[in-house]
Amino acid sequence: MMLGLQIKYAEIAGVPNLKIAHNNILGYYIEVTAKNASQMLEDARQGKSIFMHRQTMSNAVRFTTVELSELENKLKGAAERALALELELFADLVDKVMRKADLIAQDAQVLAILDVASSLAETAEEHDYCRPVLEDSLAFDIEKGRHPVVEQTMKAAHESDFVTNDCHLGNHETKDGRLWLMTGPNMAGKSTFLRQNALIAVLAQAGCYVPAKSARIGIVDKLFSRVGAADDLARGRSTFMVEMIETAAILNQSTEKSLVILDEIGRGTATFDGLSIAWAVVEHLHEVNKSRALFATHYHELTALAEVLPHLSLYTMRVKEWKNNVVFLHEVVKGTADRSYGIHVGKLAGLPPAVITRAKQVLTEMEKKGSYEINFMNDLPLFALVQKKATAEPEAATDPVKPSPVLEELKKLSPDELTPRQALDALYKLKQLSEQNV
Ligand SMILES: Nc1ncnc2c1ncn2[C@@H]1O[C@H](COP(=O)(O)OP(=O)(O)O)[C@@H](O)[C@H]1O
Ligand SMILES: [Mg+2]
Repeated sequence: MMLGLQIKYAEIAGVPNLKIAHNNILGYYIEVTAKNASQMLEDARQGKSIFMHRQTMSNAVRFTTVELSELENKLKGAAERALALELELFADLVDKVMRKADLIAQDAQVLAILDVASSLAETAEEHDYCRPVLEDSLAFDIEKGRHPVVEQTMKAAHESDFVTNDCHLGNHETKDGRLWLMTGPNMAGKSTFLRQNALIAVLAQAGCYVPAKSARIGIVDKLFSRVGAADDLARGRSTFMVEMIETAAILNQSTEKSLVILDEIGRGTATFDGLSIAWAVVEHLHEVNKSRALFATHYHELTALAEVLPHLSLYTMRVKEWKNNVVFLHEVVKGTADRSYGIHVGKLAGLPPAVITRAKQVLTEMEKKGSYEINFMNDLPLFALVQKKATAEPEAATDPVKPSPVLEELKKLSPDELTPRQALDALYKLKQLSEQNV
């Protein structure tokens, strides 16, 4: 309609590029460039034309006509009528919904239940979960358990398969105590194991299938976890204070029917301090709370408790040494870690070779003495390392800092010059390089 009018007006005014436009102040108006406007302005002044002047801009002049104003009023009325109609229909719908609100809420509830049930069923089917057996006992027997999230993350990243692990707490047949003390190096999979068993208990009691081959769980009255989550510094509590508050809650509240996971208790304070607390916590859990519990620790000294606590079992994460490196097998096995491998992990992470060498010296010296008391002047003179290095120290020589091929390749790339295809190729190449250099 406007377009027709525009063509008609362009013809009448003899201005082919005349336009009809709209803004919120003027509404609809006719616009011609300043150059084309002089004749129209002249005609308008003499009242000889249908065009009436409205506004002069620096490079354009705007007009209107009676016809255009009338059309605009009609349009405005139509918009108002449309809105009124819409509001009426909406009010009507609201009214109908309100009259059946109870029924609709009931249906929504039913659909929500169906949704949860079918989602769980789908997950169980897709990821091969099993139906747990829940009973009124103190059993906790998980066969080939998995961590539902870590497993899926690894699958999505096309990494190696998740390693399944059993967990038997307080089981006579497998001769397992109800309290498992887990040692093993960092990155070996202790935390994952603790959490996967807690998650399996939660899922089972929520009525879900669980990521395991089989699961038999005596109903858990309370599940407690103390894991190194985020600090609560915002509320003025230090990490260690939070750790102690949570541990206190566990020791004060957990019962024989509870499931407790404790990850690296006492880490946030000095070694002896932390070890003493961890020691006393294990004893208390064992003697007083009697809960089923998984206790991960880096304090190897705690394993001595197995001799006096009958319901304590020692477990560790299997580790293989290969070409001077540590390979984590993520497998939970009976026993204790023979050492912590912290220095190896530091090396993997890229600590400077000099630091690694020095740390090994300190460790050897401490192990020799069987204590932390070292005479730094005699046993470990500060500059021994430097002197040794000067006389071609073999350990450092076998560990030169090689530039990483991945980094070298990265430095060569200039992202601005790559096509998407080239970028993708480059990414594959980097990935391949990184896999060759683990
Ligand atoms: N069972 C497993 N199978 C495969 N990979 C695992 C397994 N458990 C842990 N991992 C991998 O090892 C990493 C470190 O595990 P984590 O539980 O944090 O070790 P820890 O607590 O002993 O330091 C995880 O992020 C995961 O990638
Ligand atoms: Mg951990």
